[in-house]
Amino acid sequence: MTISLARGIPAPECLPVEELAECAEAALRGDGETILSYGSTLGYGPLREWIAERHGVEPGCVVVTNGSLQVFHLLLSALPAGRVLVERPTYDRPRKVLLELGRELGEVGIDADGMDVGELERVLGEGSPPALLYTIPTFQNPTGSTLSVERRRRVAGLADERALPVLEDDPYGLVRFEGEPLPSIFELEGGEHVMYSSSFSKTVAPGLRVGYAIVPAALASQIEPLAAATYITPALLAQATVHEFLRRGLLEPSLERVCGLLRERRDAMLEALERGLSGRARWTEPEGGYFVWLELADDVGASELLARAQDAGVTFVPGADFGGAPNTARLAFSFVSPAEIEEGVARLARLVTATTAPV
Ligand SMILES: Cc1ncc(COP(=O)(O)O)c(C=O)c1O
Repeated sequence: MTISLARGIPAPECLPVEELAECAEAALRGDGETILSYGSTLGYGPLREWIAERHGVEPGCVVVTNGSLQVFHLLLSALPAGRVLVERPTYDRPRKVLLELGRELGEVGIDADGMDVGELERVLGEGSPPALLYTIPTFQNPTGSTLSVERRRRVAGLADERALPVLEDDPYGLVRFEGEPLPSIFELEGGEHVMYSSSFSKTVAPGLRVGYAIVPAALASQIEPLAAATYITPALLAQATVHEFLRRGLLEPSLERVCGLLRERRDAMLEALERGLSGRARWTEPEGGYFVWLELADDVGASELLARAQDAGVTFVPGADFGGAPNTARLAFSFVSPAEIEEGVARLARLVTATTAPV
C-alpha cells in the first residue's frame, strides 16, 4: 500500500465527528430559520462576534468565508493591482492563483527562523511598492518554519513605515505541540496595515469549510459585494456548527487531543529521519503544524526521486511545487499513522542512500 507523506490533511481520528453531529443538530434546532436562509454575506453573526472578541476587534472587521483560501481570493480582488510578495517556498495554492492571474511575484527566502527580513527589505526597495505581502509566519506550509519574535517585530515595523499591506495567514498557530506561542504580526502592528487570516480547518475540521479574515472595517465593506456576487451567502450551517462547538467550550479539549495525535506523528517522522537520513539530508524540526521540510544533497532531484518513491510505495510533494529548490521536498506527518510514517520515511531513506553520497 502506498504511504502518503504528500497529503496535508488531518488523520481521520483527528476529526471530532460525534461532537460536530451534536453541534450541527443543536445549531439547526436553535437557529434553523436563520441558517437555512440567505443571510449575512460576511458570515454568521454570532461566529463573527466570537472571532471579534477573541482577536480584540469589532465584528465589522471580521469576514467569515468558505475556508480561508477564499479570503485570499476576495482580498486580491479588493486590493489594488501590483506585485505580490511571497515567501520562497510558499503554500502552493495561493502561489498558483497568483501565477494564473498573471500577478508579478516577488519572492523572499525563508530559513529556520522564517522569512529572511533582510531580503524582504531588499525586495521592497526594488521596483514599485507591492500590493501585498503574503506570509505564513507560524509552522509555515510547506517548511514548518516559524518566524522569530525579532523578525515579527521587523515585519510589523516595515508594514507601518512603508504602508505595506500584509496578509498574515495563520491556520496552524493553535496546532502547537510545545514551546510558547508567539505574538502575531497582526497583534504587534495593531491591524492598520496587517490583515490576519485563519481557519477552523486545522483546529476543528477542514470539510466544514469555515475560514476567516480580520481586515479594516472599510475593506470588509468593500469585500461584501464581491462575496455576494460570488456566493450570495456563505455556508451558514457549517458556520453555526462551528459556533456551537466554540460556545460549548469544545475547542480547547479538541485541540489538546489533536495536538497529541499530531505530536506522535511529528516525533515518529523526526525519529525516522534521524535513523534513515542522518548525514545525508537536513530537515526542519517544527514545534507544531503539519509539515517537515527536507533538503537533500544538491545533486538529488526531488521530482525524479518522487517517481522512484511512488514505485517503492511512498509519496511526498517536491519542493519545486512550492517554488522551492529542486533538491527539497515537503513531508506531511498529519495524515498517516506513526507506524506508516516510520515505514514511509524508511522507504524514502533507502532510495536516497542507494543513490547519493552523504551531504
Ligand atoms: C497556509 C495555509 N493557508 C490556507 C489553507 C487553506 O485553508 P482552508 O481550509 O481554510 O481553506 C491551508 C491549507 O492547507 C494552508 O496550509
